[in-house]
Amino acid sequence: MSSKTIIITGGAGFIGSHVVRRFVNNYPDYQIINLDKLTYAGNLENLRDIEHKPNYTFVKGDIVDAAFINGLFAAEKPDAIIHLAAESHVDRSITNPTEFVMTNVVGTVNLLNAAREAWKDDYSKYRFYHVSTDEVYGALGETGMFTEATKYDPHSPYSASKASSDHFVRAYHDTYKMDCVISNCSNNYGANHFPEKLIPLSINNIKNNKPIPIYGKGENVRDWLWVEDHARAIDVIFHNAKAGDTYNIGGHNEWKNIDLIRLLCKIMDKKLGREEGTSEKLITYVTDRAGHDLRYAIDSAKLQKELGWTPSLQFEEGLEKTVDWYLQNEEWLENVTSGEYMKYYENQYATR
Ligand code: NAD
Ligand code: DAU
Repeated sequence: MSSKTIIITGGAGFIGSHVVRRFVNNYPDYQIINLDKLTYAGNLENLRDIEHKPNYTFVKGDIVDAAFINGLFAAEKPDAIIHLAAESHVDRSITNPTEFVMTNVVGTVNLLNAAREAWKDDYSKYRFYHVSTDEVYGALGETGMFTEATKYDPHSPYSASKASSDHFVRAYHDTYKMDCVISNCSNNYGANHFPEKLIPLSINNIKNNKPIPIYGKGENVRDWLWVEDHARAIDVIFHNAKAGDTYNIGGHNEWKNIDLIRLLCKIMDKKLGREEGTSEKLITYVTDRAGHDLRYAIDSAKLQKELGWTPSLQFEEGLEKTVDWYLQNEEWLENVTSGEYMKYYENQYATR
């Protein structure tokens, strides 16, 4: 596909910033427009290194605002969209589900409608790439993996909103014959991850000698993938998938939360020059998340076989690199954990 102008939504967030950087650096002939509302999770600091590149533009805007989105499509005439903008944190979706419906469902439908109108001369010339999650498949027991054929069974307001947005994307492909592609990825980790999520929250707390809150017994399992491997998968899928196709993306890297946190404590002790075992003492079991999915595990065989993608990094190495990034970027961490974050943290953890 020879796309020239690509709108990437949510490009100031965690995964979006890695995707924007990759496309800006690797495809100088593409014009990359980063469309982001800059919610609490959006941070232009994530893109300082590429913001002056001639093929990069930032546009502040809300995907829930249909008139604005239609105007942007009319003005920029994009050839493709890679859609990552979303409310992404499960705990926040439990507190405020409606915001997730607005951004994740209505926002996605607004983008689909704008694309449907702007691209009606020939849908096969344009691409709508929707970035989704493995959480749409629900929870696994002790065994098995999610494949692209697994039935949707979302449990949290977040995953229900993502599942709904996936259904709309498929419906626009089936009904209007738009060129839509979806990928469903497992848990990402790496630089610029907002410290409301397990790994960066724990790094921040260990650094500040604060309790590490583990929901329930810490037995829940997640399948962790290096964020740059996700960005590379999106690149490969964007350029090679057939219209209407879906790919699962995952690291074949399952960890029980408690085992992951123990490993993290060990790495942090080493990096901070603390005696081994010091950080583990901060582990605190707290009230479980409501509707907490037991286990996620992604079967990414289709992506590996058809498009040749494989994860590049071992988890132990990736986790150590992640810790290094947070310790070297104290200012970034301090900026995002002041003000609003403290209010969120109090609400989320004070009564657990
Ligand atoms: P994030 O919360 O770090 O970033 C979301 C970005 O979207 C932010 O920059 C925010 O400002 C922007 N945004 C939010 N509402 C918006 C709106 N109404 N209009 C415009 N921009 C808006 O999220 P993330 O972890 O980087 O996730 C990105 C995408 O990848 C999401 O769609 C998420 O569902 C999906 N995903 C995430 C993971 C993960 O482990 N984090 C795994 C699989 C899939
Ligand atoms: O699987 C992909 C999904 O991964 C993405 O779609 C979501 O956007 C992303 O947030 C992530 O969802 P999780 O709920 O799995 O991630 P989180 O980091 O919030 O939690 C990971 C695990 O750790 C989960 O089992 C809950 C647990 N947890 C989380 C927090 C924040 C704790 O035990 N304590 C905590 O304080």
